[in-house]
Amino acid sequence: MPFPIQRLRRTRRTGALRGLVRETRLSPSDLVYPIFVTVGEDVRNPVAPMPGVFQLSINHAVAEAKKAHDLGVPAVLLFGIPEAKDEAASGAYDPEGIVQLATRAIKDAAPELIVITDVCLCEYTSHGHCGVVERETGEVLNDVSLELIARTAASHAEAGADVVAPSDMMDGRVAAIRSELDNEGYGNTPILAYAAKYASAFYGPFREAADSAPQFGDRRSYQMDPANAREALLEVELDIEEGADIVMVKPALPYLDVLRRVRETTRLPVAAYSVSGEFAMIKAAAQNGWLDERTTVLEALTGIKRAGADIIITYYAPDVARWLSG
Ligand code: PBG
Repeated sequence: MPFPIQRLRRTRRTGALRGLVRETRLSPSDLVYPIFVTVGEDVRNPVAPMPGVFQLSINHAVAEAKKAHDLGVPAVLLFGIPEAKDEAASGAYDPEGIVQLATRAIKDAAPELIVITDVCLCEYTSHGHCGVVERETGEVLNDVSLELIARTAASHAEAGADVVAPSDMMDGRVAAIRSELDNEGYGNTPILAYAAKYASAFYGPFREAADSAPQFGDRRSYQMDPANAREALLEVELDIEEGADIVMVKPALPYLDVLRRVRETTRLPVAAYSVSGEFAMIKAAAQNGWLDERTTVLEALTGIKRAGADIIITYYAPDVARWLSG
């Protein structure tokens, strides 16, 4: 051998050396834990395609949020399942709606825990679409929806939400929400925009959890085409112009290239949502003994962080916090 060759295995020999040269470290402080809150007393409805995930009444949601917080998870993301749905999604912006009540209860019990609220109409509309639907045509109307979405965000802020997260994918919603929040005296409430949200089959289990499947048609006229990456950058650019404080890519695993490109185009914090289908895939394989749950989840989430996520939303958040500390 004329000159020494580089040997990468030298720094892989021991756990200590591998730790020394490790480039990406997952921490509980990166994580956001989604919680489904439902009406009623003492309810814990299992979500069939998401073993270990439940629709929780407020008392259980508070306990679950506190448990995650005690494990080092800094934030929860709330989704509401209301008592009744209608065409105007009135449950979404009801000051006594399910998310508003849950937000108050969680902030009372754990004031340091960050409460992020998902802002969308799909859980509250009778037809399950994320906006207002024109009866005759079935079209999801953009600008009419913006008013209700902005009103929803302000009612969450009024209830004490620390961050509002619009997931509806109507054009212009970040600007509409920003101006409503500012006018209502919530100028300090940040917006986490689901900027690049794809029309994904990976949301299937969530729609069962949140009871939000569209009753007709699909979401492809507002959510993004999975084939497009440049367009995601445009979505991000527009959301930032409109006032987003954090931008999100969703789902995570099938879109790591998009996540990387978003990371490279903005200096704002970037979030990634490892969605219900990503959770369900690993959970199902693990329950069959086909994958080791812990190492698979940690590898998947490390990959999402390595691709560029500062913040990772995952149903595994409490488990991961436990695994990382023990
Ligand atoms: C609501 C919303 C959805 C998800 C988050 N917010 C579903 C959808 O757009 O149909 C999906 C989350 C998940 O799958 O974990 N618009």
